[in-house]
This record gives sequence, structure tokens and C-alpha cells, in this order.
Amino acid sequence: MEQIIRSPERLAGSLAVPGDKSVSHRSLILNAVANGTATVTGISDGADVQSTAACLRAMGVSIDPLEEPGSFRVDGLGANLNEPSDLLDAGNSGTSMRLLSGLLASQDFLSVLSGDGSLRSRPMGRIVQPLQQMGASIMGRNGNTLAPLAIRGGSLRSIEYEMPVASAQVKSCLMLAGLAAQGPTVLHQPALSRDHTERMMSAMGVRIENDGLTLTLHPAELQAVDVAVPGDISSAAFWMVAGLIHPNARVTITGVGLNPSRAGIIDALQMMGAGHSLRLENERVEGGEPVADVVASSASLKGIDLGGEIIPIMIDELPVLAVAACFAEGDTVIRDAAELRVKESDRIAATVSELTRLGGSLEPREDGMVIHGVGRLTGAEVESHDDHRLAMSMAVAGLVASGETTIHGAEDASVSYPVFWDHLAGLVGDGN
Ligand code: S3P
Repeated sequence: MEQIIRSPERLAGSLAVPGDKSVSHRSLILNAVANGTATVTGISDGADVQSTAACLRAMGVSIDPLEEPGSFRVDGLGANLNEPSDLLDAGNSGTSMRLLSGLLASQDFLSVLSGDGSLRSRPMGRIVQPLQQMGASIMGRNGNTLAPLAIRGGSLRSIEYEMPVASAQVKSCLMLAGLAAQGPTVLHQPALSRDHTERMMSAMGVRIENDGLTLTLHPAELQAVDVAVPGDISSAAFWMVAGLIHPNARVTITGVGLNPSRAGIIDALQMMGAGHSLRLENERVEGGEPVADVVASSASLKGIDLGGEIIPIMIDELPVLAVAACFAEGDTVIRDAAELRVKESDRIAATVSELTRLGGSLEPREDGMVIHGVGRLTGAEVESHDDHRLAMSMAVAGLVASGETTIHGAEDASVSYPVFWDHLAGLVGDGN
């Protein structure tokens, strides 16, 4: 599917983004193996979360829609799932594959996890290796580094593990496996990554100790817990950037989750000089997570140097930050972000190539990129690279580019944000 975008005179309105994708996955997976029944509200309607739900249903978990859209009842099966009779399809979702692998490593049956072409090319050695150290029987293509993954679950040893990458997916995978291990699981992280698993497991009765970058999880049975999923800051980021770089804009995004392990994009945009043009209103705590309405209006931005600890807490927002950087004064440098190369696409190569097509001036680096603030973009044909965040980042670029921008692969947005194009149409009004 193609979408054609022209820059509107004015960008204005208020919207609520879909439920947080990371929290949604965890609310289903953890409640699926809990004792009891939970109600989950505000869940993401994106294809990724549907992949997780389908895999869990294939193992006997009932996840039943309730009247309120986005609300489900999850009947926990306790520690034991049923052997699936067919391949488990994680679709495009790295979170589904990596978290479910951790869960399946202790289940006494055979399961095979696969996904689409993008997911089958993403690194799985990062979970296979430590799971094997725990004694799991798990195999994959290409020397156990690529999916499909075949898992014959069984009893697990506890490990102390030095994580080579700051990855919440790897951390959560090992925490899920650790629930059923014979002793505590100790994880040394190179930097903090999103902590939704820690928060939700703690609420479900798991003892987790955090000592700086070291996390210790004690084996436990989970007790079902209701979850109110906040709006996804990663989806809100597109409108934050659009509001800041469009010359005549005021966009309000309501109910955005602002968990500090996710909110790096706000800090980065503030470092770029967003100031009062990026405001938090109505700050509150909902379901144990900080939430606020975010208001973004036109601003002058400046280039920044971004690296180190902030990178894992805004990893998914870097492509759209690169769009903002095209409109900043001076250069923006993104370092320490080699993980971008192994996301749904190689996001360094894809961001550089597509923004270059729009007249941006960017240089790829092994672990990031340099973006020269050129101050304007010109409409052209761009590709999604089969990557939802690329498709949506290019839409934001199209909202400020002169002329017409055609986005090929626009349907990919539905992986995390099925109503993205409707929301965009609402913000541009009749002008597009
Ligand atoms: C996610 C963690 C991140 C992120 C992904 C979702 C999660 O991946 O990029 O979109 O839900 O745990 P890594 O933890 O592998 O960096």
C-alpha cells in the first residue's frame, strides 16, 4: 500500500495512541502462566501483540475480548501450558519470539517458533546461548543463531549471566526462564533497558532485587494481576516530532506512558531545545506507571550529540529523532546505537537512505549516524523497508517536506499502530 503525503498549512488536534506494545505483550504472557484470571485494558491492537496472543491461544490460554475495545480477560493456566500442535508464528515480532522462548524453555514439550522474513534474519543467538547455559534444549538455523527455533523444554539451572547487549527482550527472556529455574537468576546488564517485566513480575509476587545494573530474580509462581496499559510513547514520538518541526502545529497526545526507562525521547527533544513547545500536562500514575498528556507545538531545534545510557531508553525512537535532526540547526550525532542494525530493518542504513532521498544530509556510522541539519526536505518516493517505524518516520518527514511524499509499504504501520494513517488524516484536517 502507498500513502501520499503533502505538508498541511496547519497540523493540529488531539489523539490517543494505541496501548504500549511492550506492556501489552507482557500483560498477556505473564498472565497466561499465572494463577488466576486477569483483566487487561487498553491493549495494543497492533499485529505484533496479536502474534503473541495467537501463540498463547495455541498453547491453550483463553484470551477473551471484553465489551470495552482493547480489553481482554486472560485465564492463567498456572506454570504449565499445553504443547502446541503446530508451528508458533511470531510474525514480525522480536518481543514475541524472544519472550516466548524464555517461557518455553521450561515447558515440558516441543515447540517451534518462527516468523516473517525480517524476524527470521534477526539475531537469536543472544537468547539461545544463555538459555542453553541454563540447560535448555534449543536449536535454530545457522548454528543456533536464527529462527525457526525448536525448543524442547525441561528443567533449568540458575545462571549468573553477563549480558553483552542492553536488551529488554533478552533480559525478559531470561527472567521468564528464571521463574522456573532451580535457584536465583543473576543478570549483569551493560546499561538499563525498559523495565516493564520487572514491574509486572514484582506486582505478581516475584522477588526481584536490583543493585545498580545487576538484577537477581528468585523463582516463583505468578499471581494474576489486572493491567491498565498506558499509551505507547514510541507511537506518541511520531506526533511529538511532527508537532515540533511543523511550522504551524499544536498536537496533543493523551495518556502517554512515561516510564523513565522509556522516556529518553522527551529528554533528547528537550536537549534539542524543545523547551515549552514540548509540555507534559495532567501528569498522573495509572496502573503503577507514570502517565501524562504530551503537547507538542512548533519549535526551533538545535543539533545534539546523543550516546551512552540514553540510547537503550529511546532505541525505537531514533529513526524519528533523525527526522527532527534534519530540521535542527547544526549536526546531530547518534553513537552507541549499533543495535539499530538488527531491528525490524537495519535502521541505520534505512533511515539514512530514505531521508537522503528526501534531500536530507546524513552519514551512516557503524554504531549510529551523523545528521546535518539542512532545515528542509523535499517530497520524493520512499520505502518502508518492511519496517513499521520507518514507514511512520517517513510520514512525519512527509508532513514537513515540500511537494509530495509517497510512502511505499505504508501498511507496515499496522505492526504497532493500525490507525496511524487515520490519525494523520485527522491532524492535517482537509489540507491534505
Ligand atoms: C522491546 C525491547 C526493545 C525494543 C522493542 C521492544 C521489548 O528491543 O526495540 O521494540 O518489548 O522488550 P531490545 O530489548 O532487543 O533492544
